[in-house]
Amino acid sequence: MSGTLMRMAGPTVVAEGLSGASLNEVVRVGEERLLGEIIRIEGDRATIQVYEETAGLALGEPVEASGEPLAVELGPGLLGSVFDGVQRPLSELAAREGDFLGRGASLPALDRTRAWEFEPAVAPGDRVEGGARLGVARAPGAPDHPVVVPPGVTGRVAEVRGGARRVDEPAVLLEGGATLALLERWPVRRPRPARRRLPPDVPFLTGQRVLDCFFPVSAGGTAVVPGGFGTGKTVLEQSLAKWAAADVVVYVGCGERGNEMSEVLDEFPRLEDPRTGGPLLARTVMIVNTSNMPVAAREASIYTGCAIAEYFRDMGRSVALMIDSTSRWAEALREISARLEEMPGEEGYPTYLASRLARFYERAGRVETLGGAEGAVTMVGAVSPPGGDLSEPVTQCSLRATGALWALSADLAHRRHYPAVDWSVSFTLEGDRLAGWFEREAGDGFGALRDEARKLLQRERELAEVAELVGTESLQDAERLVLESARLLREGFLRQSALDPADATCPPAKAFEMLRLFLEWHRRAGAAVGAGVPLRSILDTGLGARLLRLAQLPAAEVPGAAAALRADLSEALARLEAE
Ligand SMILES: Nc1ncnc2c1ncn2[C@@H]1O[C@H](COP(=O)(O)OP(=O)(O)O)[C@@H](O)[C@H]1O
Ligand SMILES: [Mg+2]
Repeated sequence: MSGTLMRMAGPTVVAEGLSGASLNEVVRVGEERLLGEIIRIEGDRATIQVYEETAGLALGEPVEASGEPLAVELGPGLLGSVFDGVQRPLSELAAREGDFLGRGASLPALDRTRAWEFEPAVAPGDRVEGGARLGVARAPGAPDHPVVVPPGVTGRVAEVRGGARRVDEPAVLLEGGATLALLERWPVRRPRPARRRLPPDVPFLTGQRVLDCFFPVSAGGTAVVPGGFGTGKTVLEQSLAKWAAADVVVYVGCGERGNEMSEVLDEFPRLEDPRTGGPLLARTVMIVNTSNMPVAAREASIYTGCAIAEYFRDMGRSVALMIDSTSRWAEALREISARLEEMPGEEGYPTYLASRLARFYERAGRVETLGGAEGAVTMVGAVSPPGGDLSEPVTQCSLRATGALWALSADLAHRRHYPAVDWSVSFTLEGDRLAGWFEREAGDGFGALRDEARKLLQRERELAEVAELVGTESLQDAERLVLESARLLREGFLRQSALDPADATCPPAKAFEMLRLFLEWHRRAGAAVGAGVPLRSILDTGLGARLLRLAQLPAAEVPGAAAALRADLSEALARLEAE
């Protein structure tokens, strides 16, 4: 079906003569066949958001409807790829058309020239349905890629074509004429189905002590990371990409400043995967929007990333979907809404911002897949609130839609306390569901230790206020001990160096052992102070400094070092009490 262009306003255009077209249908706009999507229909008039630069379009040019919703290609070759928001391959396009994306360029997402060796797991006569494994695709230098029947497809296998295949060639033919290739297409805005949701009782371990111990989320859970400029959102997302318990990482970058995405494009491919020693990109799919790309592509990008994440989930993988930052996505939504002349809500964002975010985050989850495996999509969305003010709409709407708040504090970042997660405002709604796992797997009494640590930090804040009024000198030794123990906890436990090889990630058992010792130090020093030992003498033992060094020890050495420290502490305190 074909219509004509009758109005243009930046990336939003209106075409007439498209009476049979439907909402979210993909169209090709103008002689250059620019990619667009229908976002409103009134009679035979369709409003279209165009995913490419629209300068140079003229009224009266043809607009062609495709009959299909905006979809992604899912198949072998995704891992290691870098795409724009509507899944055009960035590196190849850049190579082919110079640095800038060519307009109307319709290079397919997945390489049509690469041959994959398809090793079938089905034979003629087999009945298959959505989620069933058809076989595996292999290529030199690529991880084995399971080939699975797309959701909604059922039938009996008529013919199997194993051996060298390109992604779009028929690999399995079903009776009745349906053909299945190594790739499938899926509409990005439609959640991929699963057999059932699984309870959120397994943590998504991040390797960051402050997150895993204080504010854990489940595999399949969601967290929002608000933080002002320079508070460490990007570094945190990259640490998670490296160290979190995820088989596959889907990273959606929505650039804050002009050159930020080129920095990410530069840096990310150089990150090393600690599990393999190879590049992290090998288990990553990157979706990148630079700020000079059209806003509509940025709006679509989080859905493109989500569909890809769900596809790997459906293979039984644990997937981390990171978005940096959702504020830029929301701004794209705001710009499109303004061009549609919709009634603006708070701060100009459309009134449906909250429901859009809620529906998006709902696509996270740990599931039993159609094929009977277990897979998860865990989502971490950064937010860049102007001025770090958490009351702004994107933060607030995200908060209502997610299970945890990991708030980054400019004050902590300023003091170079990283990760700058503010323990006084951050929270998780999943702590209770995960408590059992931590007691079992990290150590008995984990929850009680965490509560004790948080009380200590709370006491520190209260005392700091008092000290500010009356001076530290007027505090009792017992109170000064609280300040000292809390300082050790902050600097030796909550703070974690992304640069130190042993400290960059921390398994829960090491965190437990550390936490236990920090609190034991506090309790036993407190008993000694109660028995009349001057705090000064306890501090002079230098044992606090040894506590601070635990983080830099490899996990395997921590129990031994903790035992030695514990013994030295007993001896030192016994000596002081005897004096
Ligand atoms: N975990 C960390 N360890 C060490 N330095 C960090 C850490 N997180 C942030 N930084 C420092 O802060 C700077 C800004 O961090 P970045 O993640 O780019 O902030 P944002 O994305 O919030 O603007 C980094 O370049 C780095 O110097
Ligand atoms: Mg950043």
